[in-house]
Amino acid sequence: MKIKAHKEKCSGHARCAVVAPNIFDLDDDGYIAIGEIEVSPENEAMARRGVRACPERALEIIEE
Ligand code: F3S
Repeated sequence: MKIKAHKEKCSGHARCAVVAPNIFDLDDDGYIAIGEIEVSPENEAMARRGVRACPERALEIIEE
């Protein structure tokens, strides 16, 4: 699975990175750093929690 980060929606809440720090990297200003994130199968559950944690709905799961 992949996660698409809609950077234009990110307001820097950083909840994604708190829930799943290994998956969601933030830039120096605290915004989501990477537009498309590859998630390995063992990290999927944590990644989904991170997606749900974003109050701006800036993170979209792309099932493959
Ligand atoms: Fe941005 Fe949402 Fe994470 S606003 S920093 S993608 S919790």
